[in-house]
Amino acid sequence: MLQTNFLLLLLLIAIDGDSSEKVCSYQDVLNYLKLSKSNELFSMTRPVKDFRQPTEVILEILLYAILDVKEIDQTFVPYVWIILRWQNDYIFWDPNEFCGISNVTIPTDILWKPDLTIEEMTEKDKAPPSPHLTIRSNGEVLVQNDQVLVSTCRMQVYKFPFDMQSCNLSVKSVVHSVSEIRLKHHLNSSGATNWSRQLMRTQYEWLFVNLTITTKTVFPFGVEQDVIIYTIFMKRRAKLYIINFLLPILFLLFLDLASFLVPDRGGEKLSFKVTVLLAVTVMQLILNDILPSSSDKTPLIEVYCFGIFALMMLSLLETIVMMYLMEKESACPNGEKKWNRCSCLCGVSAENMPSVLTEGSGSELTREQEVSDKFPEELKEFVKTATLLLVNMKEEEKPGFWTRKSQFINTTYFIFYVTAASLFLGYTYYCWFDAKE
Ligand SMILES: *[C@@H]1O[C@H](CO)[C@@H](O)[C@H](O)[C@H]1NC(C)=O
Ligand SMILES: *[C@@H]1O[C@H](CO)[C@@H](O)[C@H](O)[C@H]1NC(C)=O
Ligand SMILES: *[C@@H]1O[C@H](CO)[C@@H](O)[C@H](O)[C@H]1NC(C)=O
Ligand SMILES: *[C@@H]1O[C@H](CO)[C@@H](O)[C@H](O)[C@H]1NC(C)=O
Ligand SMILES: *[C@@H]1O[C@H](CO)[C@@H](O)[C@H](O)[C@H]1NC(C)=O
Repeated sequence: MLQTNFLLLLLLIAIDGDSSEKVCSYQDVLNYLKLSKSNELFSMTRPVKDFRQPTEVILEILLYAILDVKEIDQTFVPYVWIILRWQNDYIFWDPNEFCGISNVTIPTDILWKPDLTIEEMTEKDKAPPSPHLTIRSNGEVLVQNDQVLVSTCRMQVYKFPFDMQSCNLSVKSVVHSVSEIRLKHHLNSSGATNWSRQLMRTQYEWLFVNLTITTKTVFPFGVEQDVIIYTIFMKRRAKLYIINFLLPILFLLFLDLASFLVPDRGGEKLSFKVTVLLAVTVMQLILNDILPSSSDKTPLIEVYCFGIFALMMLSLLETIVMMYLMEKESACPNGEKKWNRCSCLCGVSAENMPSVLTEGSGSELTREQEVSDKFPEELKEFVKTATLLLVNMKEEEKPGFWTRKSQFINTTYFIFYVTAASLFLGYTYYCWFDAKE
C-alpha cells in the first residue's frame, strides 16, 4: 500500500515536471522575429523605425600583433580585432518567453551592417570575414572580426634606428553622413592601450607604446562624416641594428685609424685602406634596401655612414699623396750620381782596401794625411774617392725632404683625423638622442 502510494507520488512529480519544462530553440526566436535568409527586409535598409534617427555604431579596435613594418614601401601591417555594436529597431524579444534565451548567433548576411572602411587600408583582407554575428533580445547587434590590415603609414626615418613611429587607422563610413551613422567608442585611449598590451602576441622588431583614439568630423565631399582615428605609437628595438650596423662601421673607422701604424713604403697601407673603405660601401648598400628615398630629411644613419666614408676617403687620399711624393723623391737625379760613384767603387775588390779605412776612427782629414804618408800615388786617388764616398754615404743616410716630412705630416693628419672623427661622432650622437625632431 505504502509502496503504491510512493510510486503514484513519483509519477505525479514526473508528470508535473514535464508539463512545467518548456523546450525552446533558437529557431523559435528567429521565427518570432520572422528572420530568415529569404526575408530581405532586415538586410536592405538601415534598421530604424524613424529615418531621422541616426544609427549609433560603437566601434572598438584592439591591436593583437604588429606583423610587419616596411619603411621602404611605407606599409604597416597590424593584426587587429574589431568589435562593432549597433541597435536594430526591428529586433526585440522577451527572453522569459523563450526560456531565457537572451542572444542568438546568426549568419552575417541576413542583417544590415554599417559600411565602415579604414582609409589607410591598401589591400583587402584575404581571410574571409567572420561568418556570424550575435543579436541580443534588446535589439543590439554585435559583430566581432579579426583582420590583417595592410595599411599605408607615412614614416619618419630621420632617427632610424632610434625612431618612433605613429601609424593611423582612420575608420569611417563609406557613404553615410552623420545624420545616418554616428561613430562612437567606449574604451578610451588608456583602456585600449591596456587591452592591447595584454593581448599583444608578437611585435616584430617594435615595442608597442600606446594606442590613442581621437574622434573627428570631416567633410570629404560636402558630406559631414564621423571618423575615429586609432593612432598606434611604437618604438623600434634598435639593439640588432646597433650590433649589426652601427658598431661594425665604427670598428672599421678604428681599423682605418690603426692603419696609420702601417709604414708608408710598400703598397700594404694603401690596399688595407681601400679594403676598409669597400666594407663601408657594402654597409651603405644594405642601408639603401631598408630606407625609403622619399624621406624629407636625410636620415641620420645615412649621414653617419657618409661621414665615416668621407673621413676614410680623405685618409686614403693622404696616403696616396704621401706615397706619390716619396716615390718621386726616390727617383730624383741624386740617385744617378750615387749609382756612378758606386760603379767606380765596384772596380776595386775588398782585399785591396786599405785597413785604415775599415778601422774607421778619427777625422777624415788626419786619416787622409796618414794614408798619403804610407801609400803610393795610385792608391791616393782611390782613397780620395773612397773618402768622398764615405761622406756622401753619410749624407744619403739622411732621408729626403718628403720622407723626413712624412712622419710629421702623418702625425698631424692623424690628429686632425681623430679630432674630426670625434666631433662628427659626437654630433651624430647628439642628433640621435638629444635633439628634438
Ligand atoms: C549569450 O547568452 C548566454 C546565456 O544565454 C550568456 O552566457 C552569454 O554571455 C551571452 N552572450 C552575449 C554576447 O551576450
Ligand atoms: C594621424 O592622425 C592624427 C590625428 O588626426 C594627425 O594629427 C596625424 O597627422 C595623423 N598622422 C598621419 C601619419 O597621418
Ligand atoms: C578611461 O576609462 C577608465 C574607465 O574605463 C577611466 O578610469 C579613466 O579615467 C579614463 N581615462 C581617461 C583619460 O579618460
Ligand atoms: C591600465 O593599466 C595600468 C597598470 O597596468 C593601470 O594603472 C591603469 O589604471 C589601467 N587603465 C585602465 C583604463 O584600465
Ligand atoms: C602615447 O605616446 C606618445 C609618445 O610617447 C605620446 O605623445 C602620447 O601622449 C601617448 N598617448 C597616450 C594616450 O598616452
